[in-house]
Amino acid sequence: MFRKQNILFIIFILFTSCFLLCCKNKPEQKIVRKSIDYIRAIPGVSDSIPAEIAEKGKVLIAYSDCYTCHKINERSVGPAFKDIAKRYPVNRAYIEMLAQKVIMGGSRSWGYPIMTPHPKLKLEEAKIMVSYILSMKE
Ligand code: HEC
Repeated sequence: MFRKQNILFIIFILFTSCFLLCCKNKPEQKIVRKSIDYIRAIPGVSDSIPAEIAEKGKVLIAYSDCYTCHKINERSVGPAFKDIAKRYPVNRAYIEMLAQKVIMGGSRSWGYPIMTPHPKLKLEEAKIMVSYILSMKE
């Protein structure tokens, strides 16, 4: 009788120590950190984007191939347009930089999928498209 109780006690201790060791990893915290890292918002003051520019960008994007890889609200092959808008402050420098990136293509700033280059796009058109994307800031 006594022996059985001892064995049960040892098993109980083993289980609780296993449980405590597992808890040290805290898996929920890791998930939270990942989703914050993904946007990596850059601090800065935003200019406003004139409505007619945004409207023009919307049309240019609709006639291009952007929506094969991008969605407005959710991540697809590329980041959601709203997530891009959350990362970058609206100003000439970022609009120029992002327009160049749309033309040249690239990867690594949102993960490993690659954006194909768009060499036929004019810089002016790419800037208007980017302005529309950044106008989705909430
Ligand atoms: C083949 C798929 C694909 C197509 C087509 C595509 N994109 Fe992308 N786009 C991506 C991917 C993937 C990324 C993320 C690249 C990275 O991580 O650097 C991205 C990123 C971006 C970014 C953010 C760049 C940065 O450095 O933060 C902008 C702006 C953008 N795309 C605009 C456009 C526009 C405008 C078009 C249409 C002319 C377009 N994309 C077409 C896949 C695509």
